[in-house]
Amino acid sequence: MKRFNVRVALATAASLVAAPVLAQTEVKIGYALAPNSHYGAAADAWQATVDAEAEGRFVFRHFPSSGLGGEREVIEGLQIGTVEATIVSSGTLANFVPEAGVFDIPFLFRDLAHARTVLDGPIGQDMLARFDDVGLVALAWGEQGFRHITSNRGTIEGPGDMAGLRLRTMENPIHITAFQTLGAAPTPMAWPEVIGALQQGTIDGQENPLSVIVSANLSDVQRHLTLSGHVYSPAMLLVSRPFWEGLSEEDREIFARGAAEGVRAMRGFVDAVEEDGVETLRARGMEIGTLSAEQRAAFQEALAPAYESYYRQYDRALIDAIIATE
Ligand code: PAF
Repeated sequence: MKRFNVRVALATAASLVAAPVLAQTEVKIGYALAPNSHYGAAADAWQATVDAEAEGRFVFRHFPSSGLGGEREVIEGLQIGTVEATIVSSGTLANFVPEAGVFDIPFLFRDLAHARTVLDGPIGQDMLARFDDVGLVALAWGEQGFRHITSNRGTIEGPGDMAGLRLRTMENPIHITAFQTLGAAPTPMAWPEVIGALQQGTIDGQENPLSVIVSANLSDVQRHLTLSGHVYSPAMLLVSRPFWEGLSEEDREIFARGAAEGVRAMRGFVDAVEEDGVETLRARGMEIGTLSAEQRAAFQEALAPAYESYYRQYDRALIDAIIATE
């Protein structure tokens, strides 16, 4: 028995010498939506790249469905270094880098291809770099799709239908100005409170892209959808500066490549839901209307005072350069 114990002890000691303990860094990644969303797809692709290339130096821990709180809280967590990575909407980004709000101007982008070209080009990349000044490392622009209005008050056919509509908006000053200008009653609210507020009827509606309306099952709490496409409002993949500064050059490149793969997955998800999302929501019982070209023009005309305020706030040459991008 004694000899057996000695042999076990020797074998254990030998195995400890043979297999040095691998130092792994935990990467807590928080995002607002469920794993089966475009955010989940991006986070999985990001992790898959890091897993494949970093030889086990990192272990991802996912916090989907606002598991770490609202998007503003998560970004603040990145700033102080309690959260390593996130994927967020542009909802609160303008509160950190006001210039980034330019991409939230209604009816700015013509289509997904236009938005992707601007964000992947010098204008978008310069904007990412500005997040350095607020203690964040913005690795890539992600995507959600164009935002549409859902409500329990009926579909919308013109700006007149917005009057008094208690519409949840993101905590985004550009969106709030637009909906105030249209005569609605915008109610800025963090995402984790939205479903409850819709269930209780404290708001009539909200606005989000098909990717969110489908993956968050908003059809359970909203009867009408108007395909307004009023704003593109991008997403972003970020990591915390303290985390980034602790990485080797090689690992920084791996994380940047992972973020690029995340964007590819996210855009693939958005492309798919743009194809079949309307049918999915109709099958789930939503009544769906689409703004005609004339109705969209009426919205743009009604937004004239809001555009005046955006032109005072943002560099007009930048707005013109975005519009002129082919
Ligand atoms: O409406 C929002 O707050 C955002 O679009 C969401 C759903 C949190 C995704 O980032």
